Amino acid sequence: MNRSDYTKTISLIKTYVAEEKDWYGDELSYDAAAKSSVLPVSAADTARADAERVLMKKSSSALEKLRKEICDCVRCPLGKTRINFVFGTGNPRARLMFVGEGPGFSEDHQGEPFIGRAGKMLTKIIEAMGMLRSDVYIANIVKCHPMKDASNPELHGNDRPPTPEEMAFCMPYLERQIECIKPVVICTLGTTASQGLLGVDTVIGKLRGNMVDYKKYKLMPTYHPAALLRNPALKRDLWEDMKQIKKILA
Ligand code: URA
Repeated sequence: MNRSDYTKTISLIKTYVAEEKDWYGDELSYDAAAKSSVLPVSAADTARADAERVLMKKSSSALEKLRKEICDCVRCPLGKTRINFVFGTGNPRARLMFVGEGPGFSEDHQGEPFIGRAGKMLTKIIEAMGMLRSDVYIANIVKCHPMKDASNPELHGNDRPPTPEEMAFCMPYLERQIECIKPVVICTLGTTASQGLLGVDTVIGKLRGNMVDYKKYKLMPTYHPAALLRNPALKRDLWEDMKQIKKILA
């Protein structure tokens, strides 16, 4: 390594550490580094990898079958005004699944959940946990864009939370999606998703941080990434919630 490569590497490490500190304070995580280390492959590892490939294929085709079955849904009024049906994305065998409120402008236009500003914040959260977006599964409690003015999908700032009726129409889809993925932990993001899945009307400030049983799964309600954009002080609490999830997944 020459002097210039060495300087570049040091500068990359400094940027990485600064970003990590922003998230963890002084509690740096080495998960990502540990993940990328090269370990000897045993026969048991190979057998596990083969079994995992079979399960991955099964889960992936079950999800695709479900997507094809429901992607033209017009059972509720949201289906009649959406641009794209936003099914969900990620690892079909994710151990961690995030559930948000519903597609916004960008998601409706591109057909993928959490790709706007809140989505970028969610990506940061996932990476701060030592994972990639492709390791987890991301979906919403409703699959179509709830708009304040349903006649104008091209209007920015036209998002609203789904109504209880809209959620009731869409909930069976999410439930079937969860059954395909079988995550260890479901993390609900914000009031709407948390109240919707848990069937309660408790405020998110009281729900967050309390891991509960939801069917066969663990469920952790936490703040919506958009709330962190409005109020960065909430990052600390959210990080405490993510630490509990990491413990369960360890
Ligand atoms: N907010 C959500 O809750 N879901 C998305 O997909 C995007 C923003």
